[in-house]
Parts: sequence; C-alpha cells; structure tokens
Amino acid sequence: MTPLVEPDDLHPPLLQDVRSPQDRCYAALYQEMIAWLALPVGAHVLDAGCGAGGLTGILAAAVGATGHVWAVDRDAAQVATIHAVLATTGYQDQVVVLPGDIIALPFAADTFDLVWCSHVLHGVPDALASARELRRVLKPGGRLALREDFAWRPQCLPDEAAVGIPGLEYRLNAVEVQGVQQWRRAQPDHTPYPFGWTQLLLDVGCHSVTAHTFVLELLPPFSALQVAFLRERLTGIGYHEETQRYLSPRDRATIAHLTDPQHPD
Ligand SMILES: C[S@@+](CC[C@H](N)C(=O)[O-])C[C@H]1O[C@@H](n2cnc3c(N)ncnc32)[C@H](O)[C@@H]1O
Repeated sequence: MTPLVEPDDLHPPLLQDVRSPQDRCYAALYQEMIAWLALPVGAHVLDAGCGAGGLTGILAAAVGATGHVWAVDRDAAQVATIHAVLATTGYQDQVVVLPGDIIALPFAADTFDLVWCSHVLHGVPDALASARELRRVLKPGGRLALREDFAWRPQCLPDEAAVGIPGLEYRLNAVEVQGVQQWRRAQPDHTPYPFGWTQLLLDVGCHSVTAHTFVLELLPPFSALQVAFLRERLTGIGYHEETQRYLSPRDRATIAHLTDPQHPD
C-alpha cells in the first residue's frame, strides 16, 4: 500500500504547474511504477501519449542528467503547454516534447531503451497496430511498458454513499467505459483487439511479458488536493454530455450535491 503523502513533495519540479489534481494525487503511485522499471541512468525513453506530462518529469528524473525523454502526444495544445513550461525549467535539454500520433511515430527503428505508454492504448482505434509501432522504435533488448487499468477503476465513494441510490460509482464507471468504447467504435479505422494487454505485447513480438499491479490508497481526512481530485473525477464523468444521457435524474442530483462545496454531503 502506498503511504499517504502530500505528493508534490515527491515530484521533480518539471511540469508541476500543468499537472491535473489527479496527476498530483497519483504522483506517489507514478514514482512507484517508474521505480519498478529500474531504468538505467542515461537511458533513452519515449513517453508515448504524454498528456499533461504527469509521468514525463518522473521519467526524466529516473534516467538522470545523461538520459533523455521524448514526450509525444497527438494533442498539439498539450504539447505546446508542456513545451512552454519546459523552457522555464532545468529539464529543457533532457526532455523533448513533440506533437505526433503513436500510429506513425516520428522516430527511426531501434531508438529507445524504454517505450512507456500510459493510459493511451485503451482509447486508440487500433491498439494492435499502435503497439506494433511502439515496438518498432525499441532498441534490441529494450522494453515496452503499458499502463492501463486492468481490473477496476478508481473507487472514490463508499458503496453506499449515504446520499442517493447505492452503487452510484459503479454506474458512473460503467458509463465511462461505455463512452470510451463508443468513441473507439466510431473511428473509421477501428479494429477491435479483445484479447487483453499481455497478449497484445506477445502479438507484437515482445517476450518475457509480465504484469504488475500498483494500488494507491488515499485515506481520510483528505487534503485540499485530494478533494480537488475527487471533485474533478465526479464532475469529469458525471457532467459529461454522454454520461448525462445514461444517468437517472436522481443520480445526476447526487453528483451535483457531492461536488457542491456548499452542500453538506
Ligand atoms: C488519459 S491521457 C494519459 C496521459 C499520460 N500518459 C498519463 O498517463 O497521465 C491519454 C493521452 O493520450 C493521447 N493520445 C491518445 N491517442 C493518441 C495517439 N494516437 N497518439 C498520440 N497520443 C495519443 C491523448 O491526447 C491524451 O493526452
């Protein structure tokens, strides 16, 4: 179990300003994941689908001053934001941020010691082709590390939240999974891959495939940051246009109560 810590203390200065409350709350977990990879100092790493850079800084710290991290995301706005923040830190020579799609990466074959792809493949139209591309840019003997939610999604509410109908979070999670699936299926090049992540790694030619589960426990009393994360999560799913269609008026009212700072719930 990860101890309760105020995660900003653990995080290298890179990208602190752009990270979401979730990234900041998860920082201890991210540290644990990257530490588990035991990256050699000086390694060349690709952070594929880097998002707001929640893990980019941790990867950069892990490979040391002689290592390099290339961070790629297809969202040009995210890339521009990280790029601007990088210019104000001591990491600008060590981290390169580029716009790009993981289906066709702007790198030669045999480039990276580690390709890290966190919370991306579940949302791409063709996970197998994307993983093949991630594998292509690995050096011989390099490692491809995927991070995905396997068995469960964050559980932030008790089963019986004591407000509304029990099981609200299960319904929210189901709607969230459904939303991702619908988005994927609506893509013109959607190619289903229903065999799981470890099989995917084998199918793209990886060997010595393994899996490891990391768990973050956040215990009350919650810090302001943790409360911000809970609120972000509930509003992020609960107020999404698609979600609204699938939730009952009572569930919607419960979310409104739980995310209203003025409401006693
Ligand atoms: C849920 S975020 C994860 C961000 C980060 N890796 C993390 O774990 O915090 C998913 C990110 O993947 C990016 N993404 C999705 N599909 C992509 C693709 N085909 N190529 C590059 N980036 C992609 C999105 O723009 C988004 O920033």
